[in-house]
Amino acid sequence: MDRATTVAELRARVRAWRHAGERVGFVPTMGNLHAGHLALVDAAREVCARVVTSVFVNPTQFGPNEDFASYPRTLEEDAALLEARGCDLVFAPTVEAMYPRGTRDHVEVRVPGLTDELCGASRPGHFTGVATVVTKLLNVVAPDVAVFGQKDYQQLLVVRQLVADLALPVDILAVPTVREANGLAMSSRNRYLSAEQRETAGAIYATLRAMAAQVAQGLPIAAIEADGLRRLTEAGLAPDYVALRHADDLSRPADGERRNLVALIAARLGPARLIDNLLIGKDIIAP
Ligand code: PAF
Repeated sequence: MDRATTVAELRARVRAWRHAGERVGFVPTMGNLHAGHLALVDAAREVCARVVTSVFVNPTQFGPNEDFASYPRTLEEDAALLEARGCDLVFAPTVEAMYPRGTRDHVEVRVPGLTDELCGASRPGHFTGVATVVTKLLNVVAPDVAVFGQKDYQQLLVVRQLVADLALPVDILAVPTVREANGLAMSSRNRYLSAEQRETAGAIYATLRAMAAQVAQGLPIAAIEADGLRRLTEAGLAPDYVALRHADDLSRPADGERRNLVALIAARLGPARLIDNLLIGKDIIAP
């Protein structure tokens, strides 16, 4: 597996593959890879001859009081995992390589509407940082396919919207969430949890499943959301939001709607802010 740290190195490598007529798949990550990320690499490999994975902890998507400084950086372990998984190239740029003029005055990509609520409300500026770096990474790698996890559902919709609005020539592939045995969605931030907290965090997926069952029973949306908040609080989590939304655009459904929905949760547990979601009445994420 090759490594590139500059945009020029990366472009030279990808250009050679493209000249050889090979399709290029791209998996953007912030590193500290786990089975969830490796499932994204597998999905890229299934549809492309070549796979590029980026490992870049993007400063512009972290708020001033968030965990940018302490975010786990484990490039050597990540590279070993990627190589074993058949990734062809890891792109691990410095902050200076991605933001040569600094992060403050950089052009931003803002996706309106979708980003005002849920995680956007509790993390102001987060999705603008994500949209900006994803646009830049897509321009740098110029892949045929880019793969994102369903776990970050709002992010997935933000990426789909920016790709559509800016007419970027890339297909976005979504991959289902990989979970621990107790249902906890795999996340680099699970590292912040003790063994006991990991058990407690299983309440998030249990609550999402309860919400899906309540939708099937036709309970009112407000009652389902309130019950979800209660379940999480009783389990020892501090919920940020519990929401039932339309899966395509995160708009609010009417009571009695049962299809094409998504249940979403964000909750704090000790030092970690955890997110998860469950599609309801929809099996796959349509492009
Ligand atoms: O999902 C992530 O890890 C990040 O938000 C991403 C897409 C790599 C952008 O920094």
